[in-house]
Amino acid sequence: MILAANSDSKRRLWILIPILVGLTLLGLWLRSTQSSSRSGVDEGNAAIHYLGPDEYYLNRGAYIQQASGETRMDTVLLPLIPDPVSGAQAATDGGYVGPDVCAECHRENYEGQMQTAHARTTTLPSRETVLGSFADGENVLQTASPNLRIEMIEDQGKLFQRMVLMSDGQPQGGDFPFDIVTGSGRVGQTYLYFQGEHLYQLHASYLSGQDSWMNSPGYLDGVADFARPVLAACLECHTTYYQPYEGAANQYHREHFVLGVTCEKCHGPGAEHVEYHRRNPEQKSAHAIVNPANLSVERSLELCQLCHGGDPLRELQPPFSYRPGERLSEYYEFPQSDGSQLSTGVHTNTQLPRLKRSACFQQSESMTCIDCHNPHQHERGDLKLFSERCIRCHEPQACGKFELLGEQRIRENCIDCHMLEVDMSDIKLNSGGQRLMPTMRDHYIRVWDEATEEYLQQLDRVTQGF
Ligand code: HEC
Ligand code: HEC
Ligand code: HEC
Ligand code: HEC
Ligand code: HEC
Ligand code: HEC
Ligand code: HEC
Repeated sequence: MILAANSDSKRRLWILIPILVGLTLLGLWLRSTQSSSRSGVDEGNAAIHYLGPDEYYLNRGAYIQQASGETRMDTVLLPLIPDPVSGAQAATDGGYVGPDVCAECHRENYEGQMQTAHARTTTLPSRETVLGSFADGENVLQTASPNLRIEMIEDQGKLFQRMVLMSDGQPQGGDFPFDIVTGSGRVGQTYLYFQGEHLYQLHASYLSGQDSWMNSPGYLDGVADFARPVLAACLECHTTYYQPYEGAANQYHREHFVLGVTCEKCHGPGAEHVEYHRRNPEQKSAHAIVNPANLSVERSLELCQLCHGGDPLRELQPPFSYRPGERLSEYYEFPQSDGSQLSTGVHTNTQLPRLKRSACFQQSESMTCIDCHNPHQHERGDLKLFSERCIRCHEPQACGKFELLGEQRIRENCIDCHMLEVDMSDIKLNSGGQRLMPTMRDHYIRVWDEATEEYLQQLDRVTQGF
């Protein structure tokens, strides 16, 4: 059986029982190279479906039903690589130079920013950046089907997910490379792979809380799925720059990218700025670069909204064309939101609409995200530091709990009482039948009686020593 259908990946073809499957292999290869062939292929008790990017979203549900229905079939979904779009567009670097170049003159911001979740949200794969284990015994994701498992393997210095399907007692399968790692690992990681220039999601993801491999979020346990196309929206939120082909669902120039959410995502492409300041070292005022501190409140909020405002309804311009300081509504249409919902679609807390509900936001003239977040420092979990930012606007004495807690203690933590930690029901992680939901801070800042009670009880436990 051949898993990846273009010549680029034939190199990586992997067959355990070549003689037994040789004939099927030829048949499948022929089928999958003809883009007209879209039907499934039965392999004993297994069904293999090749899906193009559009069909994936249209038909996946039906195949999954088949897999979970009465006549259970071991189901494998593989990409049907579309005809490449080419020619129309030259590859460009879009004026992006990458963060290492900025380090030359902004060392401090560089070193701090590289430690943040933003900078690490997409990386190249290595044994360090891929957080899951490749050690024997820990490197297997056994799916709900006894016949289907994914093994994480290293071969000649490269990392792969090996899909193993037992069909009529014979193992068969294929290797899929780790090409891009997404997620700094606060909650977990998901991995992407290229077929030529087409980008897909790998089946196995990693869940930090359990330190284990799991089925990627939204995948049905028991179906091996390597066909999910990675659309540009995903890279818009998780990289600084990628060059997509216009008119293609998931095709990208592989030489032109800047991984991580780094300098130029918030300051705009830096080539001209760098060139100017290298040539004019005596010039002390900045040329051709955006400083968000100088933007209006609205434009500043929109920069963060690009990724922290929930799911856009639709794109009005090609992805990666928005630049900081521009009007975001000319690039993306966002749903009208009064912030009454914690989340809309994408796996992120809708921090902006929630914040907008708060009296803090409504009654101060110019509150933005950077009143509380310094984008150049890794500050996660430092509740005392965040509380100092509340204290810039609020005297601790203004809080009704000041007397009870005393000055020192209240200054350590305003957050647990006023920004509730909530389960994100949108982040459904399906693994071995378990559903795991990480928690996030509700940015609707207010007086929370439940949170206060919980926090006070917890303090009691700490002070009483149990
Ligand atoms: C050759 C030196 C040099 C390099 C390389 C360089 N900068 Fe600058 N940058 C400067 C100078 C000089 C200033 C003006 C003085 C200041 O604000 O520090 C500046 C200012 C800035 C400012 C503040 C702008 C303002 O209006 O207040 C930002 C933001 C900035 N640079 C971002 C970047 C980014 C992002 C990169 C990498 C793409 C980069 N710089 C690379 C020299 C450089
Ligand atoms: C609208 C922007 C947006 C899109 C689209 C998006 N993400 Fe995210 N993603 C986020 C944000 C923001 C977070 C962090 C959650 C939070 O703190 O609100 C996140 C979190 C994650 C995490 C967990 C990170 C960690 O370390 O805990 C992973 C993994 C991830 N995304 C992968 C993906 C993949 C893969 C895609 C596309 C197939 C995608 N995301 C699409 C914005 C987006
Ligand atoms: C998530 C968005 C974001 C990222 C990523 C980011 N910055 Fe900034 N940067 C900002 C904001 C917002 C400000 C204004 C902060 C303020 O003044 O409070 C700023 C200000 C600056 C300034 C001017 C003020 C100062 O601190 O000197 C420089 C220079 C700068 N950034 C360089 C960089 C460099 C270099 C990188 C990458 C290593 C980077 N930034 C990454 C958002 C970002
Ligand atoms: C291009 C998309 C993008 C933009 C623009 C962006 N973020 Fe993020 N942000 C993310 C993603 C993705 C994550 C999750 C990273 C991860 O954990 O993998 C994240 C995480 C964060 C976190 C959590 C950090 C942690 O340690 O877990 C904070 C805070 C944050 N962003 C604030 C901001 C602020 C403030 C702005 C605007 C100045 C901003 N972001 C702009 C995509 C973006
Ligand atoms: C930029 C200034 C600013 C910052 C920063 C700020 N607030 Fe506020 N906050 C306000 C204003 C203005 C109000 C409305 C007037 C008032 O109640 O003091 C307010 C109101 C509140 C209220 C009353 C809410 C209600 O519904 O009546 C609470 C509680 C509160 N803030 C807590 C916090 C906490 C906790 C932080 C830090 C996480 C914080 N604030 C950060 C400006 C700010
Ligand atoms: C009044 C202060 C304040 C403001 C304003 C604020 N945040 Fe936060 N934010 C926090 C605190 C406190 C946390 C929890 C930090 C921690 O536990 O590490 C947090 C956490 C986050 C996280 C991590 C995920 C989570 O929910 O725990 C993201 C992402 C984030 N903020 C984005 C934003 C964005 C985007 C904005 C602007 C729309 C914003 N924040 C405005 C205080 C603030
Ligand atoms: C133990 C939980 C708790 C902590 C910690 C806490 N608060 Fe409060 N806060 C409350 C409660 C509850 C109220 C409502 C008044 C009451 O019941 O006494 C309140 C009220 C407030 C108000 C609104 C006052 C008004 O009536 O408009 C502000 C502002 C505020 N707190 C700010 C803060 C700041 C800033 C911090 C950190 C320095 C903080 N709080 C720490 C629980 C807490």
